[in-house]
Amino acid sequence: MPIKECKILTQHLDVEGITDIEVYKQHGGYQAIEKVFKGMSPDDVITTIQDSALAGRGGAWFNTGMKWSFMPKEPDGPSYLCVNCDESEPGTFKDRHLIAKNPHQLLEGVIISAYAIRASAAYIYVRGEMWEEMVGMEAAIEQARAANLVGENILGSGVSIEVYTHPGAGAYICGEETGLMQSLEGKRAEPRVKPPFPAAKGIFSRPTTINNVQTVSYVSHIINNGPDWFKSMGSERYPGSFIFCVSGDVKNPGLFELEIGCCTLREIIDECAGGVRDDNDIKAVIPGGSSTPVMTPDQLDIVMNPELWAIPGRGEFQGMFGTGGIIVMDETRCMVDACLNLMMFYAHESCGQCTPCREGIPWVRDIVWRIEHGQGTPDDLKTLEDVCNNVAPLLSPAMSTICLFGPSWSYPMLGFLKCFRSEFEEHVKNKAIHA
Ligand SMILES: Cc1cc2nc3c(=O)[nH]c(=O)nc-3n(C[C@H](O)[C@H](O)[C@H](O)COP(=O)(O)O)c2cc1C
Repeated sequence: MPIKECKILTQHLDVEGITDIEVYKQHGGYQAIEKVFKGMSPDDVITTIQDSALAGRGGAWFNTGMKWSFMPKEPDGPSYLCVNCDESEPGTFKDRHLIAKNPHQLLEGVIISAYAIRASAAYIYVRGEMWEEMVGMEAAIEQARAANLVGENILGSGVSIEVYTHPGAGAYICGEETGLMQSLEGKRAEPRVKPPFPAAKGIFSRPTTINNVQTVSYVSHIINNGPDWFKSMGSERYPGSFIFCVSGDVKNPGLFELEIGCCTLREIIDECAGGVRDDNDIKAVIPGGSSTPVMTPDQLDIVMNPELWAIPGRGEFQGMFGTGGIIVMDETRCMVDACLNLMMFYAHESCGQCTPCREGIPWVRDIVWRIEHGQGTPDDLKTLEDVCNNVAPLLSPAMSTICLFGPSWSYPMLGFLKCFRSEFEEHVKNKAIHA
């Protein structure tokens, strides 16, 4: 059976003029806000989202309603919602499309989510490179303000919620939730030690919830259609859909919104993305953004349900689901070169706060550079493994850094060595580029 797309969030992305509030309303937009502000308490909204079992789509798959329930019910000052639109993970480009093509869908979710957690303001944190997307978001906020959906006394409810956009400067670490909070406060984006967790002490030392763009975009749909509708799709633990981003050596790269668990990784590549370009063979697939370990062609028949994949240290299948950024590499690709490309990225993006990252990732990058350029030695592979295992052993919960940036480069490095060791050895032996 051909794979059917499950268009919840992507349904209206290509409707002409959908960025305009009137067109958005003609397609059912802002009905959920009416429903919420005219008849639901904040706790009713939290219960609805909890009942839907919506899980965060920013990579960690934490239950959204539960996260919201950690926020104070009677705040003694301002509380905040932060929406994470940093999306710097190579291979991942879904949030960018959601915000660019249907900003009101996100905004409706933002206002309802802020109401539920009793936030007085919401910040939409947008990566610096997405300038046009941010300007589009600001236009949507102004339209919603004119319609009394943002700002003072929303729809006469007595509730006031301000919504701001905030540009980042284009750094990967700003996507990590505590790095994002630091950046939003105007500081260097050096992640914070947890606890305290953001719900206790977030931005400006006030209770804060941070959610991904895709997560928040589901909220109006769940309010409109009910939690049972959402739970009728996907798996029991992870209902609903997911937007996969397929890039690399495929015929038809793009975004595909699919029901969770409806098909395998191989089927997404072959059927949704049209298979490998020039009908070449697949050599390697990065399944969920560049920080997930690479996989080999024999591992691609795993069903795309995060429940089956490794949460580091657990899970039946030792691969990471991640952000849904599937990068396909065909037989013409050199794995040492591909690995070097990623390690250069991570070395550039380390915030420098923790020694294992600050020293470790430039060291790893330099060794891989040497190997790729015909200057590797037999000891190099062992050194690579030692450095990475000191930072975060592959898919183990252990790590020596404050945040998950350490595993974000150590897992892929160890993954390349695990799956393509012979290619690294060939480079060392032959002292040649692309051995
Ligand atoms: C290094 C690093 C980068 C991250 N980048 C992003 C990002 O760009 N967008 C995002 O939503 N989450 C990112 N996360 C995950 C966030 O820390 C956080 O878990 C997420 O925003 C929570 O939203 P959710 O509960 O809706 O998934 C990143 C995590 C790490 C460790």
